Amino acid sequence: MPTAADTGQPTLEAILRRGPVLPVVTIADPATAVPLARALLAGGIAVIEVTLRTAAAAEAIRRIRAEVPAMIVGAGTVLSPAQLDLARELGAAFAVSPGVTPGLLDAAAASPVPLLPGIATASEAMLLLERGLSLAKFFPAAAAGGPALLRALAGPFPELRFCPTGGIDAGNAAAYLALSNVICVGGSWLAPADAVAAGDWRRIETLARAARALRGEPG
Ligand code: 3PG
Repeated sequence: MPTAADTGQPTLEAILRRGPVLPVVTIADPATAVPLARALLAGGIAVIEVTLRTAAAAEAIRRIRAEVPAMIVGAGTVLSPAQLDLARELGAAFAVSPGVTPGLLDAAAASPVPLLPGIATASEAMLLLERGLSLAKFFPAAAAGGPALLRALAGPFPELRFCPTGGIDAGNAAAYLALSNVICVGGSWLAPADAVAAGDWRRIETLARAARALRGEPG
């Protein structure tokens, strides 16, 4: 199976390095997908994770890919090999799962879509290392132990790099981004449900710009 690098697609690491924030969006109305993606892009955020939690998610991914080609679109909340297949069919550049199972890791090893698997423990870290993987979502970041847990994992697992997600916002993101084993942070705070429902794209652009500024110049 060709890797992302073989096919000329950006690697998962390159995608995550675009950050510093990976917006996690759950889209109820596919008509909001394109203006939402444009607002994030206008604010300097060029990667988006659309969770596969709604009936609108697939159409949202299709529309963003078709109408906002500069936006790198991933599929989130991938829980099963079938959903990883769906991510591939939709042309997602990457997939994100909240946890890991051997079955999902097997499917990911055979898929051209790079998977960012979620972990929160040392045992799960070891499961990834057994598979030769070094990038993980750290989920649910705040509830699982926050920056202190990530700092503790850096000792035995110096090769692992994390995208902490879950309970992160503009107020605490910098504390995560300052850690040597954090490549970016994820979160839903860039696209508040009320702003999306009201079509307040200006607010989302402003939130994106502030998020973009969390780590200096473009990476
Ligand atoms: C999620 O799965 O919903 C993401 O981890 C986002 O979490 P957040 O809403 O706490 O940012």
